[in-house]
Amino acid sequence: MADLDDLREGADFGLGISRENQCFHVKGAENLPWGMKDRLSRIFNPKTGKAVMLAFDHGFIMGPTSGLERIDLNIVPLIEYADCLMCTRGILQSTIPANTTKPICLRSDAGTSILTDLNDNVLIDIEDAIRMNVSAMAVMLAIGDDAHEAKTVANLYKAVDKASRYNIPVMGVTAVGKQMARDARYFGLASRICAENGATIVKTYYCEGFEKVAAACPVPVVIAGGKKLPEKEALELCYNAINDGAAGVDMGRNVFQSTSPVAMIQAVHAVVHQGITPDQGYELFCDLAK
Ligand code: 5RP
Repeated sequence: MADLDDLREGADFGLGISRENQCFHVKGAENLPWGMKDRLSRIFNPKTGKAVMLAFDHGFIMGPTSGLERIDLNIVPLIEYADCLMCTRGILQSTIPANTTKPICLRSDAGTSILTDLNDNVLIDIEDAIRMNVSAMAVMLAIGDDAHEAKTVANLYKAVDKASRYNIPVMGVTAVGKQMARDARYFGLASRICAENGATIVKTYYCEGFEKVAAACPVPVVIAGGKKLPEKEALELCYNAINDGAAGVDMGRNVFQSTSPVAMIQAVHAVVHQGITPDQGYELFCDLAK
């Protein structure tokens, strides 16, 4: 049990010091088996070590939200520009062409909707994930939520136990409850808990002090985009996150709710993989959106 009266916050994150002996392009994956590394290499580009994941799993909680009314019309045209697709099995089976060669990060937990409180009590059967040939499974953790923390940590644990048998990576998704502060302390805690419980990828949010979140997380961190921002601000978010140690983005609304989703995903891709500045990214977006 932690000594709660003497919780010393981490202060020395070794910022700027790179990890030794990193001979694989995905952080923390050196010791993993071949199948796991192969799947991670489908998501994270071996040349840049980065990934642009396109998240469109929102409907499993929100229904047909703006930009996702018709996945066939809204998302299918974006597939060619994404490095990885994050969605639910229902959308994958019903609407994503099976001849796509893009890796799938399968949303693997469920049990909640926007109409009620968080209640994540369902975890997909590992056999279904295998049948759909997924490259990763995504499971949400509600750290700090009294009612759901234990349940969601157990969900992640179970997913890692089962997925590891088949060398399928698991992405821990850090949910932010209404009562949580969206700061580096919270995201650092939640991200590290995901990794300590076996997640091979962590999805969290960008925040001030993000470099400490990324440094203290022993596996790659990708950021969610959050609510829709003006395109230039969203590109700044991607740029800052990558500069501060993110291994990529797993973005949804800032792409599919853009005035030009096809232009936006290409601009995000160039910021993440080529390191172009937000100004250059925005110029690219405007050119492609014409
Ligand atoms: C929520 C998720 C979503 O996929 C995530 O929020 C990404 O979407 P956005 O960029 O729109 O925030 O994992 O649990």
